[in-house]
Amino acid sequence: MDKKRILVITGSPRKNGNSDLLAEAFIEGALQAGHTVDRFNSGRKNVRGCIACDKCFTRGTACAIKDDFEEVAPLIAQADILVFSSPLYYFSFPAQIKGVIDRLYSFNSSPEPLRIKETVLLACGETSDLTDFEGMTKTYEKTASYLTWEDRGQLLVPGVFAKGEINTKGQDYLKLAKELGLAL
Ligand SMILES: Cc1cc2nc3c(=O)[nH]c(=O)nc-3n(C[C@H](O)[C@H](O)[C@H](O)COP(=O)(O)O)c2cc1C
Repeated sequence: MDKKRILVITGSPRKNGNSDLLAEAFIEGALQAGHTVDRFNSGRKNVRGCIACDKCFTRGTACAIKDDFEEVAPLIAQADILVFSSPLYYFSFPAQIKGVIDRLYSFNSSPEPLRIKETVLLACGETSDLTDFEGMTKTYEKTASYLTWEDRGQLLVPGVFAKGEINTKGQDYLKLAKELGLAL
C-alpha cells in the first residue's frame, strides 16, 4: 500500500475536546497504517479569513497575510490527504478552520498544483439531529468536489457537548475514527 502524507486540521479552540479526541484516534490509525501525519490546530491559532487582495504567491508565501496560515501553508502544499476534525458551530465550521479553508484560495495561484487527492471529515456536535450537520457536510462535499478531492469518509458524532463526552457514548466513535485512519 502507498504511504501517504496526511495533514489533519483540527477546528476546536478547546484542547482535548471531542474533536481533538477524534483527531487523535484517527492519527493513531493512520500512523499504524504507516502514513506520515502532520497536524495543525487552527482553533488555537491566529488565522484570519481571506481578504480578497489577490496577492497570493506574490510575497514569497502562499498568502500575503502575515499570520499563522504561514505555518499550515507548507503542510498543505506537501499533503496527499487533508483531514478536517471539527466541532459544529452554528450548523457549520468554526470561524478559525473556515479561515484556513477560505485561504486555500491562495493555492489557485500556486506555481505547483496541490498534491491533495483525498479528504476526510470528522465532526461532532451537541445536536442529536444529524441533519444539523448538513451546512458543514455540504461545504465539505462541495469543496472536495471543486478541488477534485475524493471523499474518503465522513464520521459525524451527534449528542456530545462537554469536553470528553465522546468517551461516554454507547457507540465507539473513537474506534470508528481510528478505523478511518487505518483504512487509508
Ligand atoms: C460557539 C459554539 C457554537 C456551537 N454551535 C453548535 C451547533 O450549531 N450545533 C451543535 O450541535 N452544537 C453546537 N455547539 C456545540 C459543540 O459542537 C459541541 O460542544 C462539540 O462537542 C464541541 O467539540 P470540542 O469538544 O471538540 O470543542 C456549539 C458550541 C459552541 C462553543
